[in-house]
Amino acid sequence: MQLYLDTGDIQEVEEALAMGVLAGVTTNPTLLTTRGPVDFRDTIQRFCAIVPGPVSAEVLATSHAEMLVEALEIGRWAPNVVVKLPMTVDGLKTLHALREREANISTNVTLVFSPNQALLAARAGATYVSPFVGRLDDISHDGMAVVRDSVQIFDQHGIPTQVLAASVRHPLHCIEAAKAGAHIATMPFRVLMQMVKHPLTDLGLDRFIADWVKSMGEQGVVTPVAGTVR
Ligand code: G3P
Repeated sequence: MQLYLDTGDIQEVEEALAMGVLAGVTTNPTLLTTRGPVDFRDTIQRFCAIVPGPVSAEVLATSHAEMLVEALEIGRWAPNVVVKLPMTVDGLKTLHALREREANISTNVTLVFSPNQALLAARAGATYVSPFVGRLDDISHDGMAVVRDSVQIFDQHGIPTQVLAASVRHPLHCIEAAKAGAHIATMPFRVLMQMVKHPLTDLGLDRFIADWVKSMGEQGVVTPVAGTVR
């Protein structure tokens, strides 16, 4: 399972890239405007320039005709941009029209809440479908079941569309999505950091350093590679 960041913050993207774990980025209108108004095209192009993988950018129009114009425009912004379309009748029509006109533009159908929606999006030609796990959990439905069922249906019927687990809220969602066979999980930077951290790692490291200093002295310890610990 590949790991994406779900963010509108380029510094978070840079930090995750530096750790070597980031395969792509998803954005949405909420995330992009968290800190106020932005230049949509400029922001997405800046993301696309530094991310060596797909970057999803969502259309804002809701009617098929307007959505298609917007999707064609976004699709020209960068080679790695992915046009994100909502799981609506107009979204499906736009997806189909895009496939007919510009087969090389990748698409991500968002706001997917059922396996049937995932199947429809896949049959209309989506590159990715994004089940929203956390938002289903929020209303006491099993969000991960949509990921699991979509993966099974796509596998069983040889459908190449990738399942992108979205609305990931905590590290357990990542583990469950990976076990369910999701191709990708997209998560807030906070969740990525939670995946990195373990209290026993921190305790273990503190102990190693403390033992080294105890034995070697407090004056400034030279490490085997000639750097100083303190
Ligand atoms: O980008 C879509 C999705 O990941 C949003 O997540 O936490 O707002 O439900 P959330």
